[in-house]
Amino acid sequence: SDRMNVALDGPAGAGKSTVARQVAKRLGYVYVDTGAMYRAVTLAAIRSGIRPDEADKLRELVASLEIALMPGPEGQVVLLNGEDVTEQIRTRDVTLSVSAVAANEAVRAKLVDLQRKMASERGIVMDGRDIGTHVLPDAELKVFLTASVQIRAFRRFQELKEEDRVPIEQLEREIAERDRSDEQREISPLICAKDAVVLDSSDMTIEQVVEAILDMSRTKM
Ligand code: C5P
Repeated sequence: SDRMNVALDGPAGAGKSTVARQVAKRLGYVYVDTGAMYRAVTLAAIRSGIRPDEADKLRELVASLEIALMPGPEGQVVLLNGEDVTEQIRTRDVTLSVSAVAANEAVRAKLVDLQRKMASERGIVMDGRDIGTHVLPDAELKVFLTASVQIRAFRRFQELKEEDRVPIEQLEREIAERDRSDEQREISPLICAKDAVVLDSSDMTIEQVVEAILDMSRTKM
């Protein structure tokens, strides 16, 4: 087929989801936000009172969950056992626990399996941490999107709703901590794939990043 898969990885707040959504739209591809899937499992764990370090309980929990991504009027809708949790997975509670839940082997095995199925017919733009290295190692185009911690914290700060506002310094610390734990976990840590193109978006607009990726995609078609 003439369709390809695009893997977009990088640390928290680099602009991956905004960029991936726009690239997918321009290519007529389907966007898959894998972070949203880890967030949905984390929400389920919080609701069940399971701590991220309770590996056996997490294993049991994840086996009982049905997680699905659906196109909605305002973008992607995340379903947890049929319930729309699109908004609830973006709360601070979830953000603070997701990295620890995502380190669980059973959680990763289940979600990676689902992600590979979603991409099997190509025409997917998938964003995450381990897409180019582990989930879709044969993706035709791999991009590793970064930006300085300060800029990422500032972007996150601007995205937060009024009631969720916290000092930007605190966001910076939390983002650095999430990077550290994503980079140092044993299974599929956040690292740049050898064949990925590194894009530092610190001094680029979203439009510039999108255009750069579309340019790269044209050379692959
Ligand atoms: O992309 P987002 O910031 O929503 O991802 C939330 C968390 O989910 C990440 O910090 C990471 O711990 C986990 N994640 C992952 N592998 C992916 C995508 C996300 O471990 N492919």
